[in-house]
Amino acid sequence: MPLVTGKEILGKADREGYAVGAFNINNMEILQGITRAVKEKASPVIFAVSEGAIKYAGLKYIIAMVRTAVEDAGITAALHLDHGQNLEMIKSCIESGFTSVMIDASHLPFEDNLKETRKVVEIAHARGVSVEAELGRLKGVEDIISVSERDAILVDPDEAKRFVVETGIDSLAPAIGTSHGAFKFKGEAKLDFDRLKKVKEGCRIPLVLHGASSVPEWVLEKAVKYGGQVKGARGVPEEAIKKAIALGINKVNVDTDLRLALVGAIREVLTETPQEIDPRKILGPARDLIYKVVMEKVELLGSGGKA
Ligand code: G3H
Ligand code: 13P
Ligand code: ZN
Repeated sequence: MPLVTGKEILGKADREGYAVGAFNINNMEILQGITRAVKEKASPVIFAVSEGAIKYAGLKYIIAMVRTAVEDAGITAALHLDHGQNLEMIKSCIESGFTSVMIDASHLPFEDNLKETRKVVEIAHARGVSVEAELGRLKGVEDIISVSERDAILVDPDEAKRFVVETGIDSLAPAIGTSHGAFKFKGEAKLDFDRLKKVKEGCRIPLVLHGASSVPEWVLEKAVKYGGQVKGARGVPEEAIKKAIALGINKVNVDTDLRLALVGAIREVLTETPQEIDPRKILGPARDLIYKVVMEKVELLGSGGKA
C-alpha cells in the first residue's frame, strides 16, 4: 500500500463529515502504537513529523519506518511535515517521499504568509504533494481581553477566503482559540465556533485543528500518579472537538496526549520495577498506552472504517 496524499484523505473526510487524526511521531514505539490502532479500526491516518522530529530521528529513518509500517500493516496513511518553516527542509521532504507538507508562515504578516505559502504550493503541487497552511496565531481565547486583540490573533474569515483562492492550498489551519501543549485553558475552555463556521462557509476546503489534544483524565492521572509534573493540565474537551468536526474540521492534530501517555507508562514501569533495565519492558507498555489513546481518538473523530 503506497502512501496517499493529504488531499485524498482529507477530501473524503470533508465530503463525508468526519475528521482524521494527525499524530506526531518521533520514534518506532509511537509509530507502532498508532499503526496498530488505525489498522484495527480500519481508519485512515496522517503521520505528522515536525522539523524537531526530523532533527531527532533523521529524515531517512522516519521515511523508512513509516513506509515499513504502511506496507506491513496495509493501512491508508499520509506522511506529513508538521509546521514546516524552513524552505530547504520543506523541499527535502517533498523530494524524499512526503505526501503532504505544512508551510507555517503564520507568524508573518498576512501578505508575506500568502507569498511564502504560494511558493510552497507551486513546488509541492508540481510533485503531487498536498499543502496545508495556517492563518492566525495559536493562543487560548480566554487570554484575549479585547475584541480587537481577538481579531488580531484569531483567523479573519474574509482573509481566509482570499488566502485559499490566491494560494491554492489543499487544507487550512485557522486559529480559533486552541494552543499547543498540555496547559491550554486556565478557566473555561473556549473555542470561537462562529469564526470557524464563517471560515468553512467562505473556504469550502478541509480545515485543520492544531493544538487539539484533549488531555484525557485517565492518561493524565497515570502521569501524575508516577511523578510527572503535569498536574492541572487541560486540553480541548471532547465535546468541543465533536462540535468543531460538525462545523468543518477534518484533521485533528494530536501530539501532547501521546507524550503524556508515553511518559506516564514509562514512569510507571520505572517506579514499580526499579530493577528493570530491559528497554523493551520499559518502552513496550508506552507503545501499548499510545495504542489505547489512538483507539479512543478514532472513535471520537469518526474515522473508523473509512480507510
Ligand atoms: O505542534 C507541535 C508538535 O507538538 C510538535 O512538537 O516541534 O516539539 O516536535 P515538536
Ligand atoms: P497538541 O499539543 O494539542 O497535541 O497539538 C499538536 C499539534 O498541533 C501538532 O501540530
Ligand atoms: Zn500544531
